[in-house]
Amino acid sequence: MFSVDSHKGKYHVVFGTPLEEAVKSCIQDTDFLVIDKCVYDKYPIFHRLIDSERIYILRAGEETKTLQTCQELISILISSGFKRNHKLVAVGGGITQDITSFTASVLFRGIGWKFFPTTLLAQADSCIGSKTSINFSNTKNLLGSFHPPEQIICCTEFLKTLPRNDIKSGIGEMLHYYIYADSSLLEDMTREYNKLVENPCELMGRYIEESLSIKREMIQRDEFDKGERRVFNYGHTFGHAIEALSNYEVSHGLAVTIGMDIANYVALKNNIIDEETYLYFHKHLKNNLTPYYIDNDRIEDYYNLLMKDKKNTDSDIVCILPYGIKDLRITKVSDSNTDISIDKLKRDLVDYMEDKCL
Ligand SMILES: NC(=O)c1ccc[n+]([C@@H]2O[C@H](COP(=O)([O-])OP(=O)(O)OC[C@H]3O[C@@H](n4cnc5c(N)ncnc54)[C@H](O)[C@@H]3O)[C@@H](O)[C@H]2O)c1
Repeated sequence: MFSVDSHKGKYHVVFGTPLEEAVKSCIQDTDFLVIDKCVYDKYPIFHRLIDSERIYILRAGEETKTLQTCQELISILISSGFKRNHKLVAVGGGITQDITSFTASVLFRGIGWKFFPTTLLAQADSCIGSKTSINFSNTKNLLGSFHPPEQIICCTEFLKTLPRNDIKSGIGEMLHYYIYADSSLLEDMTREYNKLVENPCELMGRYIEESLSIKREMIQRDEFDKGERRVFNYGHTFGHAIEALSNYEVSHGLAVTIGMDIANYVALKNNIIDEETYLYFHKHLKNNLTPYYIDNDRIEDYYNLLMKDKKNTDSDIVCILPYGIKDLRITKVSDSNTDISIDKLKRDLVDYMEDKCL
């Protein structure tokens, strides 16, 4: 049994239970389902076993990860007679998770929720860690809280129907944990990459557990993201801005993969790591790097999005850079502080986009 300690107590991730058995044993009569429409359409078991009065079908997208959606969900819950001892069950990816968990954290000052993650990103990363997030005023994940689920049921069966792009998005998040820990599975993932993308349902199990184990070790030490957990923002500051600049056409984990490569490149260009180290990381990121080019005249827009990142304080950009293998550190970019100047960062971003190694 895989369990995680949190401020709300221990919660468990259950692996390997066949889907039908898991739905029958984990969903109770008073539970209310919040389910991704795509999953609802592809997995008839949910209409077969759960009464439609107890289901909210969600069109998952960044544009629906909003307070309005949570408000609509709360109205439906209240009018359906939902009580504080009832539970929400999220069935979907990170978006369904974020909407359900945020709602669960505020309704009646906090109710219990369970999670069937259906994307690789949700299975290998977001399902643990307690964070809930909602987009607000064009800024991703600006609102949120810490409210872990009571139980996570991880069925890799769901990965059969997940589009390849979403498999690659999940791999992006997994790579960032593997690089943080310099996991022994990094080499295996690079070697098996194509097979993993083609057949995630059969092959992904041990990779998911490794990713969750690395994350668990950290979140148990710093659940509230006050200190060392911030190194898990590796690739995310640069990645979130790419997601936004591309109008979310580049998915989260693929943007994080580019974001890690940019962070490594910035470290290389500022003599923080040597070329051999940059190429070691690049070798493992390469399979999962999508071509994405930012023209010179859009670098300023990209920079402004970096500035909007919620981790920033005053005029500083806070990013995570590698200082070596298994050595990620929080680094400030500013004009007053000396780590890296803003102008130098902008030049590095332009150079990155031009660099032949991509
Ligand atoms: N709360 C956290 O700790 C945390 C951590 C990381 C990311 N996130 C958030 O997660 C979101 C991204 O999550 P995601 O990548 O899971 O995206 P998602 O929830 O949007 O799902 C991706 C797409 O896959 C579809 N889908 C889901 N399961 C499917 C299945 N089994 N078969 C076919 N299609 C399926 C969805 O309809 C959607 O179109 C972002 O908003 C990000 O900010 C949250």
